[in-house]
Amino acid sequence: MNTTILEANEIHKSYTKGVWPRRRRLEVLSGASLRVANGEIVGLVGENGSGKSTLMKVLVGDLQADDGSIDRAGSFGYCPQTPVLYERLTCDEHIDLFGAAHGLSVGEIERARRGAYDSLDFAHFADTWVQDLSGGTRSKLNLALAMLHDPDLLFLDEPYAGFDWDTYLKFWELTARRRDAGSGLLIISHFIVDEDRFDRIYDLIDGRIVER
Ligand SMILES: Nc1ncnc2c1ncn2[C@@H]1O[C@H](COP(=O)(O)OP(=O)(O)OP(=O)(O)O)[C@@H](O)[C@H]1O
Ligand SMILES: [Mg+2]
Repeated sequence: MNTTILEANEIHKSYTKGVWPRRRRLEVLSGASLRVANGEIVGLVGENGSGKSTLMKVLVGDLQADDGSIDRAGSFGYCPQTPVLYERLTCDEHIDLFGAAHGLSVGEIERARRGAYDSLDFAHFADTWVQDLSGGTRSKLNLALAMLHDPDLLFLDEPYAGFDWDTYLKFWELTARRRDAGSGLLIISHFIVDEDRFDRIYDLIDGRIVER
């Protein structure tokens, strides 16, 4: 029996743009609602600028909604669309830092490190500074950091932008394994070719969510 681990109801969010006297409000979310249960991969799809990242930021608590409610159960990880990394730290140092921040033991950090390097195949960059990494490897590290603490719920904002084909396939193997182990995943995607990879898909249209 799947239980709901994320439920968002009637989320509203506007941005204020421009400076006075040409200040105006841009309403991005106008009552968006969705739910994610454990053991499912849910897609969030929409045009550029439709508000997918805004909705995800609201769901993880990075942005405050103007209205609506969010209920989350258990731990979660978030992979933002733009990697948030430290240029002068190596991959290993990122894993140590994020592992410690999540309260993992040394042994747990080592296991998480091996898991991340093996599943996404970037162990050879363990000692490389982020400033010297390619965009695709930065994305791998960004994704690895979101999953380090084995969260119940994963929020991934276009996680495979920049991945080569092999890594892209590895990504879907990894997400399927997590789903089968009981995690819930919400993944922002553009590609219609990914449709079969999702258990359910939500379209974000005119600020509201429509389930396919
Ligand atoms: N901090 C901000 N201040 C003002 N407007 C913003 C801000 N962030 C996003 N917007 C606007 O809100 C709208 C939705 O942006 P958002 O990044 O959520 O879209 P998206 O669906 O994730 O797009 P993409 O597919 O390009 O990633 C866009 O019109 C964008 O310009
Ligand atoms: Mg986005």
